[in-house]
Amino acid sequence: MTMSLPSRRKFLTQTAAGLALSLSGAAAFAESRRPLGSAESTLIPYGAAVRAGALASDPTYRATIARMCDMIVPEGEMKWSDIHPKRDEYRFENADALVDFARQNHLGIRGHTLAWYGALPAWTSELASAAEAERELVDHIETVVSRYRGAVPSWDVVNEPLIDWPQDRSSIRPSIWMNRLGPEYLPIALKATASTDPDAKLVLNEYDVEYRGARFEARRRSLIQLLRWLRDRDVPLHAVGLQAHLFAGRGIDRDGLQSLLAEIVALKLDVLITELDVIDFDLPGKIKERDALVAATAAEFLGACCEVVRPKAILTWGLTDRYTWVPTYFKRADGMPNRPLPLDAEFKPKPLFDVIEEYRRKLT
Ligand code: XIL
Repeated sequence: MTMSLPSRRKFLTQTAAGLALSLSGAAAFAESRRPLGSAESTLIPYGAAVRAGALASDPTYRATIARMCDMIVPEGEMKWSDIHPKRDEYRFENADALVDFARQNHLGIRGHTLAWYGALPAWTSELASAAEAERELVDHIETVVSRYRGAVPSWDVVNEPLIDWPQDRSSIRPSIWMNRLGPEYLPIALKATASTDPDAKLVLNEYDVEYRGARFEARRRSLIQLLRWLRDRDVPLHAVGLQAHLFAGRGIDRDGLQSLLAEIVALKLDVLITELDVIDFDLPGKIKERDALVAATAAEFLGACCEVVRPKAILTWGLTDRYTWVPTYFKRADGMPNRPLPLDAEFKPKPLFDVIEEYRRKLT
């Protein structure tokens, strides 16, 4: 059924309740395309990380992203190594293609990422002094953020700042930025983004904050300290992104996660779920069983979150199992493909999708 956007919007508004009742969440998902950011939509916006290469080469992927997502985020195309491979060379083609795709399909888009230890091009290791590192960091942010001002309203400015097992807020992960500037690189990056695009929502994105155990408690404690430190110094920041790369067996610390979220809310910061997927490398091989465990893991996490806060968006790190980062790091021993995402490799909705649909509706 082809519909123009306005009529599809009306159709969705009129039938949303009926669809929810008569179809499973997955079927409703497959049938509909939620017009993102539309005033009528009261659902939590859903989005996915996308790959420019796959968008160009795989028409089904392209159509499915356009139909099912409210927003996208580039999986790699705005990282330093992609967009700024040499000191005096920026390459915007792929990032531009994603921004154009979002615009053409009336999707939102988030930027990822400006100050991270990963995906740094080799030339950045030559930055010899604090002054030089600051100059390059700020130049990069000004160049990239100003190019997409008005098109990219939300940035993961700081990504994964804490070391794996931090002691306190100063346990910042080593990188050229930390090595040359110390923790000061966080305020520098956030202020540079704010002054380049005063309307942009600035996000600090972190992972491994949801589990039970001393390491994860330390991460939650240190993250709160870090957020307070930024707030006490009037550093601009609007939201915390919980990546939510979940592991089925690890056991979510419901109380720990909920008090972290309550602290974030008390600091008047928004929360986004930025990179949800469920890493399934050590789950049973039987597909049905595995998909159910993946869905249950996400339900446990989203259930705990949504009791405390309404996330501004829920994004998964990819939409379909056809394109996922998971096997690069977490390949299955039995050689079967990973299934961490809402749609399978043939774009069929899985139980994980139903779970996301359920929580998108829950607080509305
Ligand atoms: C990953 C991409 O998915 C991979 O394709 C790439 O090779 C490495 O980075 N946390 C993040 C993301 O913030 O940027 C990472 O993305 C996944 C973990």
